[in-house]
This record gives sequence, structure tokens and C-alpha cells, in this order.
Amino acid sequence: MEKKNIDWANLGFGYMKTDKRYVSDFKDGKWDEGRLTEDDQIVMSECAGVLQYAQTVFEGLKAYTTEDGHIVVFRPDLNAERLEQSAARLEMPVFPKERFLDAIEKVVAANEAYVPPYGSGATLYLRPFMFGINPVIGVKPADEYQFRVFGTPVGPYFKGGAKPLTIKVSDFDRAAPCGTGNIKAGLNYAMSLHAIVTAHKEGYDENMYLDPKTRTKVEETGGANFLFVTKDNKVVTPKSDSILPSITRRSLVYVAKEYLGLEAEEREITLEEVKDMAECGLCGTAAVISPVGKIVDHGKEICLPSGMEKMGPTTQKLYDTLTGIQMGRIKAPEGWIRVIK
Ligand code: PLP
Ligand code: COI
Repeated sequence: MEKKNIDWANLGFGYMKTDKRYVSDFKDGKWDEGRLTEDDQIVMSECAGVLQYAQTVFEGLKAYTTEDGHIVVFRPDLNAERLEQSAARLEMPVFPKERFLDAIEKVVAANEAYVPPYGSGATLYLRPFMFGINPVIGVKPADEYQFRVFGTPVGPYFKGGAKPLTIKVSDFDRAAPCGTGNIKAGLNYAMSLHAIVTAHKEGYDENMYLDPKTRTKVEETGGANFLFVTKDNKVVTPKSDSILPSITRRSLVYVAKEYLGLEAEEREITLEEVKDMAECGLCGTAAVISPVGKIVDHGKEICLPSGMEKMGPTTQKLYDTLTGIQMGRIKAPEGWIRVIK
């Protein structure tokens, strides 16, 4: 398969239309058989549930070319399960896991020419999503939905690549106590737009959101979970009911324990104890692990000892091991890698 003529090494995290996407419609209480289409446009009523009341949920995962030339995806079963939880919370129907996996496989295979080559630093980002499509004017769930998956080749989420980021402790919340912070709903990201534009205007790369109830504990950023390394080399990552259960974070906790022999723990982390951490990173599908060099809390700077030049040593080991597993250089735990071809 001949690859597209794309400057893979200089791709940013943006949208590029690829050849085929998957679509399935839910009507009269059931999903249709689904299909691949070249049509990237969606026509819907002006009163569609998604447009009026933001009834939409999504996922994000990546396809990689491995060292030996296979195309694989990383733990897509967990994305299927999380989409199910997100959909349930917004009163949407379940898109069955086996069908989700089949849709992913079909989209990757149909867009093989866009899967970046091994070693290019880029990947094919996959975006499954589902939304209410029929007219809804009283506040209630839609009756009809569409599930879609498209792919787009991407480079690093943060422009500097592996250069440490500067983060602002935000005065805004991205989630509410007992709200929807723990699901992947479009509405959470709409909530975060003003906060991220404000942070960027002030020269910060990202926001650190605090727990919305007490504003004393570290939650996450707009698109990634936090991961810290303590001075005694323990990996710790925030536990909270209002953050997204990151698949990357869950994988890194396993990697820390089982591959690197480190202690790793998901627990509440107060903002107060951040000044005592040795390393900090943002983890997620898009972010992979992006190092944090500085956190600014209302003018008070917390400078991580790992500095502003490179990743801390333990963060680097986690990064190398995780990406090694994803790219087929390191043996993966059972079930983590789904081979497409
Ligand atoms: N937190 C938020 C708010 C996100 O949008 C994401 C991205 O998916 C993550 C965390 C990381 O999750 P994952 O590792 O499953 O991609
Ligand atoms: C992902 O990492 O897949 C996300 O959805 C994060 C988003 C901010 C791009």
C-alpha cells in the first residue's frame, strides 16, 4: 500500500480529511448494519439534539505502525467500554463493543495510506463519536442517534513536542461535583474553552483544574490526566470521581509497577503537596506523556526539579516503555495490542 505524500515528521495535532469513515444510524430502537463512506458531511435538522442540548460523546485512540510493519491499535476495548459509560450518563444507546472494534478496524484498514510510517513520530488518531440527531425541543434525550468513526494523521499534541510545559492553576472548573467530569462528553470540552483561551492569552500551555468541591486537590487538564513522581521515585496520579479515567494513566500505573518495578498509586493529591514532587507529566492518548516543568498558582511558581529542558528521568522511562509497547519494540501485556494488519 502506497502511503500518502505527507510530511509526517512535521504534522501537528490537526484534522486532515482521510478517505473513508464509518457511520451507523440508530432508529426505532436499533442500530443499522453500518457502512464505510467517503462522505465527511453530516446533514441534520436544525433542531437535532446534539445542536440544541449538546447530546454527544466521543473517544480518542491511535493506530500505530510497529517496528515490524504491522498496524495496531492500543487497548480499543477500553475505549469501547468508556464510550458505553459516557453514553449511559447522557441517556444514549449503547454501541456494542464488538461493533465498535469492528468499526475501528474498518476505518484503519480503509485509510491505511494515512497511517504514518514507523519512526515518523506521527500516528493515525481515531475519533469515534455518537450524537443525538433527530429534532428535540423539550429537554429530553433524542430518539435517533448516529455513531461515526473517522481517522486523521497527527503529530504531537503540544507544539514543543517533549519540551516541558508551563501550567496555570485555573480559577475555572471543568467539572461539577456529581457532574459529568468522568465521562467523555463534548459538553466538558465546551466548558473548558474559555479557560484554555484565557490561559493561552496569559502565556500558559495548559490549565490545572482543581476538584470542584473543595478546590484543594489536583484534578486534570482539559485533555489529559496528571502524573507525578515523588522525590522517593514513586509514581502517583490523582484519584477523583470528576476526572476522566484515562486509559493512558491506567496503562502507565501498570507499566510503572510491572515493567519498571516502581511503586505506583492512584490517590488524592493536594495542590499543597505538588511543590514536593520531583517530576510531573500530562498523560493521555493525544498528550502521550508531555512533561510539565512549571506550575503557577496565582503568581506562586512551583518549579519541578526536572527543569524546563527535558523530561524527568522516571517520566522518560515511562514514556519509553509505553511507546515501546505501542510501537512493538517491547512485549505488550496480554490483550493490549489489537493487530489490524
Ligand atoms: N482527561 C481528559 C479530559 C481527556 O480528554 C483525555 C483524553 O482522552 C484524557 C484525560 C486522557 O485519556 P486517555 O488516556 O484515555 O486518552
Ligand atoms: C485524547 O487524548 O484522545 C483526547 O481526546 C484529548 C483531546 C483534548 C484531544
